[in-house]
Amino acid sequence: MKSVSIQEHTNAFTLECSTIAPDKSISHRCAMFSLLSNETSNIKNFLLGEDTLSSLSIAGQLGATIKREGGTVSITPPKELTEPTDILDCGNAGTGMRLYAGLLSGIEGSFVLTGDKYLRSRPMNRVAIPLRNIGAKIDGRDNGNLAPLAIRGGALKSFKYNSPIDSAQVKSALILAGLQADKTSYYKEDLLSRDHTERMLRGMGATVTTNSEGWIEIEPLKAPLKPLNITVPADPSSGFFFAVAAAITPDAKTIIKNVTLNPTRIEAYKILEQMGAKISFIEKENLYEPIGDIEISYNGKLSSVTVENNIAWLIDELPALSIAMAVAEGKSLVKNAKELRVKESDRISTVLEGLTNCGITSIEYEDGYEIIGSTLNSATINSYGDHRIAMSFAIAGLNCGMQIDDVECIDTSFPNFFDILCEITHLG
Ligand code: S3P
Repeated sequence: MKSVSIQEHTNAFTLECSTIAPDKSISHRCAMFSLLSNETSNIKNFLLGEDTLSSLSIAGQLGATIKREGGTVSITPPKELTEPTDILDCGNAGTGMRLYAGLLSGIEGSFVLTGDKYLRSRPMNRVAIPLRNIGAKIDGRDNGNLAPLAIRGGALKSFKYNSPIDSAQVKSALILAGLQADKTSYYKEDLLSRDHTERMLRGMGATVTTNSEGWIEIEPLKAPLKPLNITVPADPSSGFFFAVAAAITPDAKTIIKNVTLNPTRIEAYKILEQMGAKISFIEKENLYEPIGDIEISYNGKLSSVTVENNIAWLIDELPALSIAMAVAEGKSLVKNAKELRVKESDRISTVLEGLTNCGITSIEYEDGYEIIGSTLNSATINSYGDHRIAMSFAIAGLNCGMQIDDVECIDTSFPNFFDILCEITHLG
């Protein structure tokens, strides 16, 4: 287990960052959706993180020819996806496992999806149950809820599914199944979760439209889709660690370049702005997604905030946002966020354990927490194998010094995280 010691660094800095990790959600989808074409997809700036490389190698096991030079990847799908000779290892990636479950449910053959010990303890019934209801044969431990998942793909029926959770992973799994169903399918969620799947599939020529009542209509594919030709933008969830770093360090500024400005992904920046940081969004282009730069500047001590709406739009950023809450003036509240409990770790408990170690007072609720803003103290933090916990407390370390245990997990989503952190601390 690797540990890292972060030195306190409260000097002003200006970080112009064009090397924030490429978007994880979009990279996963590039690997999978390219299989729905019959031509070569060309992807630039693919995320070379463990999670997305797992999705890419699964595409290879299903018969795709993959050429990769750095982050430039070409994926040529086989004429027909082939039954793999071995298990399909999604690593730590919930997105990988849940989306592949939807895709493979409709493909003739036998597939076993597995992952690391953390992924094998995360709930899969959220996709397995609606998929089983349309004819998918999915089994696993705990009555089919836990991986390894054994899928025997075959014919799927169309569906009308009103999802009880706002989850892009569930939505995407069902859309991928709907593309292979016998008739038009319909999917609805209360709050639009990240919509990369809809945008990318539409760009590839699929009919995935939202009607006036908010139902997503999914037409079964009649022919292979157009290939993807895409440069993956930077990941706003990864950039957000350095946004918090700027917001809590006097006179600091971070500029995150070429990041997706998709409204379902930048809510945490808006909360940070509400807390007092100075933030501007500069849109530069729009291809599949709006893309541009985000500038975040220190603007005095942050104020506390209540976060209770649009939770799906900032679920991945709540650990880092909690660091900002810990140094803000007053009591911050997070509500309606019980999904945090089933992420890479139980993030309500891992965030609060870390903050308690740093001397911060908090109250835990089933669906959120309260944090009383104060002064962070140096501590030793267990990441519990969760990349976003490790990176959040590394950023807190700029404020007070910190030892983080179990940091290998950062490679799942942001392999060059410490290189950028070193640019701030000039240790590199
Ligand atoms: C993701 C969706 C979100 C997010 C995850 C990536 C995606 O999960 O937390 O990191 O790429 O679809 P949920 O859909 O389960 O909320």
